[in-house]
Amino acid sequence: MTTINPACRALTLALGALVLGIAFAAATSASEAPKPKAQDWSFQGLFGTFDRAAQQRGFQVYKEVCSGCHSLNQVAYRNLAALGYNEDQIKAIAATVEMQGGPNDEGEMFIRKGKPFDKFKNPFPNENAARAANNGAYPPDLSVITKAKPHGSDYLYALLTNYKEKPPESYWVDNDGKPIPPAKRKWPEGMFYNAAFTGGAIAMVPPLAAEAVAYQDGTKATVAQMAKDVTTFLAWAAEPELEERKSMGRKVILFLLALTALMYALKRKIWADLH
Ligand code: HEC
Repeated sequence: MTTINPACRALTLALGALVLGIAFAAATSASEAPKPKAQDWSFQGLFGTFDRAAQQRGFQVYKEVCSGCHSLNQVAYRNLAALGYNEDQIKAIAATVEMQGGPNDEGEMFIRKGKPFDKFKNPFPNENAARAANNGAYPPDLSVITKAKPHGSDYLYALLTNYKEKPPESYWVDNDGKPIPPAKRKWPEGMFYNAAFTGGAIAMVPPLAAEAVAYQDGTKATVAQMAKDVTTFLAWAAEPELEERKSMGRKVILFLLALTALMYALKRKIWADLH
């Protein structure tokens, strides 16, 4: 009774091949860097939302630690309203930085306090200044970092929590896989070892140490906690519309389910008379 229509079978096969192809492409493109350990994020899944308290703590970590080297060009101070800050708080946060204003009536530039409509202030006036201060390496803008890297949030967390004093023995092998004797090992000047970073040697100074910030809500500022919080904050910066998108997705799924039920009922009604 259930003979499968050949067209339907061809379609199923084609779809299967497509899904396999996509999975294969995803698996191979991420193969250069070590795959970061998956973490539990509040913003994952169909019902995911950002944890407001974690976002605010993460903003504090960005502001007090990361913003010393990394810009966040695509976020304006007024966007912080999404984290639950009110207008006065946002004004006060913006006013802590100095921006260049002008020109005034005399054509002169001047220094003014930051305003809510300003984008987050850049720590360096230009790329050369940023490189000069960082052993030649450029600290990338963090606005979309969790989307720009494979497994972005897991990667960011892994990066911040995987600094080690020195590389493991297994690091010291040559291109043929033979161990390099200790006398011949040469660690690049001014670099740090990070097990999550491709190649292991990174120019970023380990940015987090326990109690690097003092959280106002009493949360203990361990390295893992700060890494988790700043990742939540940066995941929001990269995708501020995530909550609306998921809520829309849920509505679309509900609608499609209702439509399917309706179509099924209709089909039964029509065919009931034709049998
Ligand atoms: C003292 C300056 C400095 C501070 C502070 C700092 N970084 Fe960095 N960061 C750098 C530099 C320099 C690089 C480029 C490293 C390289 O290419 O070797 C970098 C690179 C990165 C990268 C890119 C890594 C990759 O895979 O290419 C991320 C993500 C990052 N930092 C996040 C952070 C976060 C989050 C904080 C705050 C907790 C922070 N950084 C604090 C200097 C800094």
